[in-house]
Amino acid sequence: MRAKVVCVCLVFMWMMPLALAEKEFPISLTCTNCHQDRYNEWSRSMHALSVSDPIFEAAYLRAYESDPKYRIFCLSCHSPTTRITHDFNLTKSVSVEGITCSFCHSVTAVEGNNFTFNPNNPMQGPYNDSNTDAHASSYSALHTKSEFCAGCHEFSINGVPISQTYSEWKASPDAAEGKQCQDCHMETKSGIAAKGGPVRDKVYQHFWYGGHTGQFLQNAFQIATSIQRTGNRVNVTLNITNNNVGHMIPSGLPMRKVVLDFNATDEQGNVLYSAQKVYAKTLLDQYGNEATDFWKAVSIAKDNRFKPDESRIEVFEFDVPEGTGRVDTQATLTYQLQAEIITTEMESLNVELASASSSSVSNATATYPTPKAPDIGWIGFLIAMIAAVLVIRRKR
Ligand code: HEC
Ligand code: HEC
Ligand code: HEC
Ligand code: HEC
Ligand code: HEC
Repeated sequence: MRAKVVCVCLVFMWMMPLALAEKEFPISLTCTNCHQDRYNEWSRSMHALSVSDPIFEAAYLRAYESDPKYRIFCLSCHSPTTRITHDFNLTKSVSVEGITCSFCHSVTAVEGNNFTFNPNNPMQGPYNDSNTDAHASSYSALHTKSEFCAGCHEFSINGVPISQTYSEWKASPDAAEGKQCQDCHMETKSGIAAKGGPVRDKVYQHFWYGGHTGQFLQNAFQIATSIQRTGNRVNVTLNITNNNVGHMIPSGLPMRKVVLDFNATDEQGNVLYSAQKVYAKTLLDQYGNEATDFWKAVSIAKDNRFKPDESRIEVFEFDVPEGTGRVDTQATLTYQLQAEIITTEMESLNVELASASSSSVSNATATYPTPKAPDIGWIGFLIAMIAAVLVIRRKR
């Protein structure tokens, strides 16, 4: 008994200095004085919203209700500092900052979904000559490579691959050319990396535009249409191409979908034919139903997403009534960030990716690809506003 107490005491004495020496992860505000631009960019990114994003919040609550073990699991990526702080109730400001500066810049190694990181580490970054009194710095080749992102952007549950953005990239022509995630998602410009620092050819912007960014999505696809008419039989061939996406589209969580809507009308606007196609990865739960909650998935039912640089032909064939004059067609590709989990504020977020139309008089052939609709970059803004309202409400 006595030996046990002594032993426990010794363990405590051994742990104390360690606990005292443990530095806290600094919050992002401590970087703003010197890294104003990076702070402004990051604070509007999905990484900064990764715990306060309402779509995540709703899913997280459902996962937690289905099994409390998911708390540690979900937060390991959405609030990665909890891997060390164990602040699973999110009481620290730095935990609520989600994927924050001091997490990413303390990472020294990534292995599968495991990160080696510590607030005591020097700031890991892309420069080998940076110098400041504010913090120690260290060159990290890892930060310039897709492998850094892979620690979160690739994972499985129950052996079912849920998000495979990294391996999709690895198999893409972009990877073969050496184009990393950072090259597309952290666009560079010239400028200073920090107040007082030298002007550099390349500083890396921290927006991480993606599926939540209308503008970014609209560069992803083109559609070319050709229409043929033989008597009352109409054949429309769509050639859907993408060439600047380094992974499948949509990538990431299976709740993302791309939907093709096709319509043919006559001169009076009467609908002659319409069809819809959905491109997505579909998960099944243990009962064989579609698993909209990805953590309940046991298998993949189908996956018909677009591969990087794929060019896909879709053909629609239909008959029009005798005596029909001109036939007009319209094809629209929409990106849907399916949010079935949100039942109150939002149903789903839709962004038009590309559209094309064509017209045909009887027996004639014509092709008219039309320019894309003007940009609507409001989706990120909408999410940010809702997140802000939720945060303010919670603080009260
Ligand atoms: C008092 C000013 C100051 C503060 C505060 C500050 N930094 Fe820095 N930081 C600098 C300067 C100066 C450089 C060097 C810039 C250069 O060489 O271009 C730098 C460089 C860096 C680098 C690049 C390191 C490399 O070698 O590639 C990273 C990453 C970084 N800082 C992250 C942070 C983070 C994260 C915070 C907040 C937790 C922070 N800094 C706070 C001034 C500061
Ligand atoms: C610690 C985990 C983690 C790391 C490391 C990480 N990400 Fe993310 N990333 C996330 C999470 C989680 C989200 C989604 C946040 C949300 O919407 O709730 C996200 C969102 C994104 C988005 C936005 C997607 C959209 O729909 O708009 C892009 C783009 C992105 N990450 C790219 C990257 C790149 C590139 C890297 C490497 C430089 C990287 N991420 C590193 C976890 C991570
Ligand atoms: C998701 C991880 C991630 C987060 C969060 C993040 N960074 Fe970075 N940061 C990177 C990566 C990766 C690079 C290097 C990109 C490259 O070289 O290809 C980088 C580069 C930098 C650099 C050096 C180059 C430059 O563009 O200035 C600084 C300074 C920096 N980050 C500061 C910050 C600050 C400050 C924050 C928070 C406001 C922050 N970072 C948040 C991943 C992150
Ligand atoms: C050649 C440029 C390019 C490369 C390389 C690239 N991406 Fe993307 N990424 C895009 C574009 C464009 C989109 C928007 C179209 C879309 O929805 O896929 C996107 C979308 C995303 C999304 C949102 C999911 C989606 O499909 O809407 C995430 C997350 C993401 N990228 C992460 C990554 C990660 C992680 C890597 C590296 C493993 C990477 N990207 C490599 C261009 C690129
Ligand atoms: C291995 C890292 C990782 C784990 C663990 C993880 N996520 Fe994510 N999560 C991501 C990344 C990366 C994204 C952003 C890109 C994408 O869609 O793949 C994301 C995006 C999301 C989104 C979409 C947010 C939006 O605004 O579109 C939801 C919802 C989500 N995660 C819920 C969860 C839940 C619930 C859990 C726990 C059951 C969880 N995640 C566990 C990495 C992770």
